[in-house]
Amino acid sequence: MCKIISIINNKGGVAKTTSTGIIAQILAYLEKKVLVVDLDESANLSMMLNAYTEDSEAVINNMIPAEKAHVAELFRYRYRDTENVSNLIYPTKIKNIDIMPSSERHGQSQLYIQNNTGNNNIILKRALNAIKDQYDYILIDNAPAKDILTVNSMFASDLILIPVRLEEYSYKGLQETLNTVAYIKEEHDLENPKIGGVFMTQAETNTIIYKDLSTLYNDTLGDLFCRTCIRKDIKICEINKSFQPVLSYCPDSNAVYDYFKLIEELDILDDSGTAALKSCFGGE
Ligand SMILES: Nc1ncnc2c1ncn2[C@@H]1O[C@H](COP(=O)(O)OP(=O)(O)OP(=O)(O)O)[C@@H](O)[C@H]1O
Ligand SMILES: [Mg+2]
Repeated sequence: MCKIISIINNKGGVAKTTSTGIIAQILAYLEKKVLVVDLDESANLSMMLNAYTEDSEAVINNMIPAEKAHVAELFRYRYRDTENVSNLIYPTKIKNIDIMPSSERHGQSQLYIQNNTGNNNIILKRALNAIKDQYDYILIDNAPAKDILTVNSMFASDLILIPVRLEEYSYKGLQETLNTVAYIKEEHDLENPKIGGVFMTQAETNTIIYKDLSTLYNDTLGDLFCRTCIRKDIKICEINKSFQPVLSYCPDSNAVYDYFKLIEELDILDDSGTAALKSCFGGE
């Protein structure tokens, strides 16, 4: 059964896109069929997976239709049938990963949503329902925003993962995200999404701030706070610049190793995935 996972934090630069891209690549490497959805108009995930097409001014101003329909059309036309939703999805160069890309014109999606009087929270959920049987995992990358698109992502998901970067104000962004999820679940009487975990990214594990803040997070969040943290690793910046598939470009990266460990800790794999993951660690 398909698991739909959103990577969310209202704060920018905490590694949402990097985490979505690398987790997708590891799951695909473990022979799982993965769809990634880019919900951010800055389209960094689409760039990372070589699926980005820049919008011309004429497309942005609605003078001509875009040649490649994507997530912006999903929200504009509120597609919910398999054929129309499938037309927004493209294969990537990485085996087992498809993408529903984004680009600048997705910035107008909020306007289209607001101008409609229907149920604006579940546009994405309804669309993904039409195609989710084709995938083991759907990962949704979000913009650093508390808006209707992020709310759509929450409604569509079984699990929320929250990357945090340990710095002074990081707790505020985290708390806002946790509060929004709790509010939506209570207000709409929903069982899902569950918080799959809060994990540290870009961690410099030998610093005092890391030690202090990780103790604070651990004491406050308890089991929600993942023991695995993703270490800061210059190779990650290189991948994001060169748009290389991470497992062929730098399989020996510390951060990639940490993402493997994180997936193990999150317990999101079925038996065959767990066996494949264990064999990556030499049966550890
Ligand atoms: N483990 C890591 N080690 C070193 N650099 C990292 C690591 N993870 C992410 N980065 C870098 O941190 C920056 C922010 O990452 P990313 O774009 O994934 O964050 P984001 O949360 O998606 O940002 P935004 O909110 O703007 O969408 C990028 O330059 C990325 O290359
Ligand atoms: Mg991002």
